[in-house]
Amino acid sequence: MKQIYAMADTLSITDNRTGKTYELPITGGAIKATDLKKIKTEAPDDTGLMTYDPAFMNTASCRSRITFIDGDIGVLEYRGYPIEQLAEHSTYLETSYLLLNGELPTPTQLKAWEHHVTMHTMVHENIKKFIEGFNYDAHPMGVFVSTVAAMSTFYKDGKAINDTARRKLQMLRLIAKTPTIAAYAYRHNIGRPYIQPDNELSFTGNFLNMLFKMAEAKYTPNPVLERALDVLFILHADHEQNCSTSTMRGIGSSHADPYSALAGAAAALYGPLHGGANEAVLRMLQEIGSVSAIPDFIKRVKGGEGRLMGFGHRVYKSYDPRAKIIKRTAYEVFEVTGKNPLLDIALELERIALEDDYFVQRKLYPNVDFYSGLIYEAMGFPVDMFAVLFAIARTTGWVAQWEEMLLDGDQKIFRPRQIYTGARTRDYVPMASR
Ligand code: CMC
Repeated sequence: MKQIYAMADTLSITDNRTGKTYELPITGGAIKATDLKKIKTEAPDDTGLMTYDPAFMNTASCRSRITFIDGDIGVLEYRGYPIEQLAEHSTYLETSYLLLNGELPTPTQLKAWEHHVTMHTMVHENIKKFIEGFNYDAHPMGVFVSTVAAMSTFYKDGKAINDTARRKLQMLRLIAKTPTIAAYAYRHNIGRPYIQPDNELSFTGNFLNMLFKMAEAKYTPNPVLERALDVLFILHADHEQNCSTSTMRGIGSSHADPYSALAGAAAALYGPLHGGANEAVLRMLQEIGSVSAIPDFIKRVKGGEGRLMGFGHRVYKSYDPRAKIIKRTAYEVFEVTGKNPLLDIALELERIALEDDYFVQRKLYPNVDFYSGLIYEAMGFPVDMFAVLFAIARTTGWVAQWEEMLLDGDQKIFRPRQIYTGARTRDYVPMASR
């Protein structure tokens, strides 16, 4: 039978406590949470109805034009362009231009953007001294977070967030300098001298140069590995309102400078449930050790002893489209580096998980982090660096989302509400009476 719908874009709510009915407008598939405030009882302390949404499972915190995800069917688009097409045809810097400006660049615009980024890759000499202060075994992600935060003391104009030219300059600085900071964190870790940026190389080629150059006069990146890293950077460049991006927007909403906000976003990324997952995947594969140990491992996961890292996603309830591209890229990289011996364990884990009821019922599929670690390891990156690589790529998304938030007239300082469940007013008890 044909369904008959009313023609109004509104939601009628009857409050059964009072019998009153309210009509709330629906815009873009959402009601405004603040419209619920008018739904209240006569009680003097009733400030109006709220929604309770820990972990923001179903709350839109903004309107955004940057990244679209349909998690049910595994679609990811930047500014409307499917991720598969960007991974196939674009470069990280072109994608970064797209995310920041909304449109693909013309050849002249791209050339100018690449030139500007290249011209801003160097960091102040004092940043090197700053990195020197870390222990030799400091986790590079800790170094990255702290050094990005320290950049706010070097670029005081970062506070001028309402001045378009100066705001854009900080965004450019962050995109250009994060690879340099990451490379220096790595070189410090392994006790090798810092390598100056090479302006003749591509964004990722130069990054590989700053990481891996030894005594040769000029570093020449392997083109397959350079392209693979560029593709990985494209895939990680943005992912709408995830934990770290929401942190960037949240800190930015207090009008802190973008270096401080981005350090906070990177700290959020560091956790093993977010960008730290690729490191956790590799450690998990190493711990499993062999294909024969997989059934026992899966049994333990199903019994609640830990998670299958690199599986599951808050938004994707099907195969993460980025994971498909990464799996393909892994084979291209292994042609050059030789197969990562952990690949067989990963493939078997995936095979079992895709058939096993526990994972099927919960719609747990491989996510972006499941295969990326295998590529990074084969390329010579230590496991500690994985989250840092994610942070470099995501810098574009963070600054694009930060700027969108600043220019959005609907936005104010972030300040969620709470449902207070603690004790109410009581008199202080002197120590002697307790
Ligand atoms: N292994 C085993 N069980 C899992 C997993 C997993 N990886 N992920 C979720 N579950 C189970 C979970 O135990 C729960 O089961 P039950 O209903 O019986 O309690 C159910 O699936 C729903 O899980 P949830 O924790 O409520 O889901 P969430 O949306 O809050 O968590 C997630 C999303 C990504 C944090 C989670 O899937 C996870 O911890 N995955 C492993 C870490 C990981 O790979 N993170 C990278 C995410 S992609 C990169 C990025 O964008 O950061």
